Amino acid sequence: MNTAQPNDVHAAWLPPEAFRALGSRHTLVCGEGALVDTVRHETAQACARYGGSLDLPPPRPADARPAAGTSYDLVLALVPAGLLPITAAAVEVVYRRRHGAGALGEEGFLLARHAEVTVVLAEAPAGLLYGLYHLVRLGEAAFGLTRPMELHRPAMRLRMLDHWDNIDVHPVMGQVERGYAGGSIFWANGARRADLTRVGAYGRLLAAGGVNAVAVNNVNVHATEMRLLTDRLGDVAAIADVLRPYGIRVHLSVSFAAPVALGGLPAADPLDDGVRAWWADTTKRVYESIPDFGGYVVKADSEGQPGPFAYGRSHADGANLLADALAPFGGVVHWRAFVYNHRQDWRDRSSDRARAAGDHFAPLDGQFRDNVILQAKHGPMDFQPREPISPVIAAMPGTRLAVEFQVTQEYTGQQRHVCYLAPWWSEVLRFAPWGDDGRTVADVAAGGSAAGGGLVAVSNVGDDPFWTGHPLAQANLYAFGRLAWDPLLDPVAVLDEWIELTFAGSASGGLGPVRRALRGIMDDSWRTYERYTAPLGVGFMVRPGHHYGPDVDGYEYSPWGTYHFADRDGVGVDRTRASGTGFTGQYPPPWRDVYESVERCPDELLLFFHHVPYGHVLHSGSTVIQHIYDTHFAGVEQVAAMRRRWERLADVVDPGVHARVRERLDEQLRCAEEWRDQINAYFFRKSGVPDAHGRRIP
Ligand code: GCU
Repeated sequence: MNTAQPNDVHAAWLPPEAFRALGSRHTLVCGEGALVDTVRHETAQACARYGGSLDLPPPRPADARPAAGTSYDLVLALVPAGLLPITAAAVEVVYRRRHGAGALGEEGFLLARHAEVTVVLAEAPAGLLYGLYHLVRLGEAAFGLTRPMELHRPAMRLRMLDHWDNIDVHPVMGQVERGYAGGSIFWANGARRADLTRVGAYGRLLAAGGVNAVAVNNVNVHATEMRLLTDRLGDVAAIADVLRPYGIRVHLSVSFAAPVALGGLPAADPLDDGVRAWWADTTKRVYESIPDFGGYVVKADSEGQPGPFAYGRSHADGANLLADALAPFGGVVHWRAFVYNHRQDWRDRSSDRARAAGDHFAPLDGQFRDNVILQAKHGPMDFQPREPISPVIAAMPGTRLAVEFQVTQEYTGQQRHVCYLAPWWSEVLRFAPWGDDGRTVADVAAGGSAAGGGLVAVSNVGDDPFWTGHPLAQANLYAFGRLAWDPLLDPVAVLDEWIELTFAGSASGGLGPVRRALRGIMDDSWRTYERYTAPLGVGFMVRPGHHYGPDVDGYEYSPWGTYHFADRDGVGVDRTRASGTGFTGQYPPPWRDVYESVERCPDELLLFFHHVPYGHVLHSGSTVIQHIYDTHFAGVEQVAAMRRRWERLADVVDPGVHARVRERLDEQLRCAEEWRDQINAYFFRKSGVPDAHGRRIP
C-alpha cells in the first residue's frame, strides 16, 4: 500500500512533517487486520523519517512486558489484546472498570497518557486508525504531561461524501457535475482510471478527517454510469479495494429505471415481482464482488430522473424496493428528498419549491424500512449561502434522516472564492427545530438510540494539483469530516487543525503568521460571501445554468421555482400561512411562529419568508434597502482586505500555493465588485432610494 502523495499533487493535509511527533517515538502497535496494517504502515513511514522506531511485527509474549528494558513512548493497541505493556494494560483495566467492554464501539478510541506512555486503545480496527490520526492532530501535545483518559466516538455512524462524477464527460455538466477542481479522480475518458494512487491518497485524507463512506458516481445517473451496477461492477470493486484500508466503504448511485435499461424488463414498477427479483439478484452479485459494499444512493422523480411516480407508486414503495434487496447484506439505501417540480409556472404565486420536500415526504413518515435513509438537503431550496433548515428534518420522527451539505461550492463561489463553510454547517447542526430545549439537527442525523442517517456532503475534489481548485477549499472537505465526527466542534478550532496539519513544516518563519493570516481570511469568509451576494436569505440571483456570478432576474421568470419578486415597492417571498404559500406551517413551534412573524423573523432570513417594503426596518436598525447597500460595499472591502492579507504570505508559503490563491483572490475581488454593482444598481433603480452615505452606485 502506498500512503505517499502522488507526484503531481501539491500537499493537502498530512504532509510528512505532520507526523514528526509520532515519528520520533518508540512505538508498539498491537492488533491485526487491514486497518491495523495501515496504522503500522503510517507509523513505520513516520519513524523512518524522524528517527523513531516501531515494534513490528507484534511482539512475542516474551517481549511484551517492558519491564525487561523495553519502554515505549506510545502504545496503539486493539483490545482485548493477549499481552500489553504494563502501562497500557493498566489503562485498559481502568477503561473496563469505568465503561465496560464495548463502550468504544466499532470506530471509537481511547487516549490516555500515563506514566510517561501515551496509550491509544480501540476495540475495532477502525478505531485504532482514527486514534492514530488523532495523535497526528495533537502532535507533541500527545506526548506532554499526563492526560486523563479521553473517549472519542463519532456522533454519526455514517459520514459520507457523494461524488457527482461522471464516467463519460457530460455535454453540459462535464466530467464532474458542479465540479470546480478539474476531472474526476475515479474516471477519465469513459473508463475507470488505471492508476488509483490518488484515490488511495484521497482515502487517507478522508480517514484523517473521519469520513467512512464514499459514493463514486453522480446522482444523475447517465447511460454509462448506470452499468456500474452490472457489467462495470469491477470498476467499483477496484475503487473499494483502494479505499478499504482507510475504513471507507463504497456506495453507488443507481437509476430507478435500471431494471428496464439494464435488465430488459418492461417496467421498473416497485411492486412488480419481476422487478423485485431483478434488484435482489443484481444486489446479490454486487455483494459477491464487494462484500462490504455500503449501498445505493437514489435521486428519483427529481430533475428528470426516473422514479416510482411513473407507476403511481410512492417514494416509500420505491425506497423499500431497494432496501429489501440490500437488507440481507446489511446495505442501506440513501433516498434523496430533493423532489420538486422543476417545470413550475412562475405566474403561479401559490406553488412554492421550498414546500415540495415536506409535502412529498412528511406524509410517508413511518413507512420506510429500517435500512432506508432519507437524505435531505440542509435547506429547503438548494445549497444557497443562507437558508433556514429544511422542515423535513423535523417532520419525520419515524424515519432515518441524513442531512446533506454541499462541500463543492456550487452557490458559494465555485472554489474561485474563499468561503469557509464550516461556520454555516455548524449553525445548521446546532439549530434546535423544536426550540432551545429540544434536540438539534445534529441529534436528528445522529439518531439517538435508533440508528440515524448521518451526514452526507457533495465532495469538492478533482484531479487538480491542489485537489480542490482553490487550495483553501480543502479546509471545507476536512471540516466536513470533523463535524460529522463531532458536530459540536468549534469551526474555528477545526480551521486551526487544518492549518496545522496542512502547513506543518512548509511555512518559513513558523506557523504563527500563516495561522493569523488564514484566520483573518477564512474565519468570516462565508459571511463575507453572503454580504456581497443575494441579500437577507432571498437566494439565487445567480447566472442561470452554471450558477456563477450575479444575475438578479436570471431565474425570475423561469420554471425553476426560485424567485425574489422584487418590484418598485419591495422584495422577498411571502411564505407565511396568513397571506403567502403557507411554508412556515411546515415547522414545529416555536419556529412556525417566529418565521411567520415579520417582527420576529431573523434578519438574515427575512426575505426568505416575507415580502417587505424597501423601507422596512430590520432588527439591526437599518432599512432593507440601506442594508443591501451597506453589506455590498462592506463585502467588497472585506475581500480586498483578504487579498492584502494573503499578499503578506508571499515569501512564507509554498510559491505554487501562493500563486494559485492569489489568482483566485483577484477573481473573487472582481466578481464581488460585479455582485455589488449589479445588486446595488438593480435595487436603486427599482426603489429609487439613494444610498444614505452617497456612495457611487452605477
Ligand atoms: C442542484 C445542482 C444539480 C444537482 C442537484 C441535485 O440542483 O445544480 O446539478 O443535480 O442539485 O442535488 O441533485
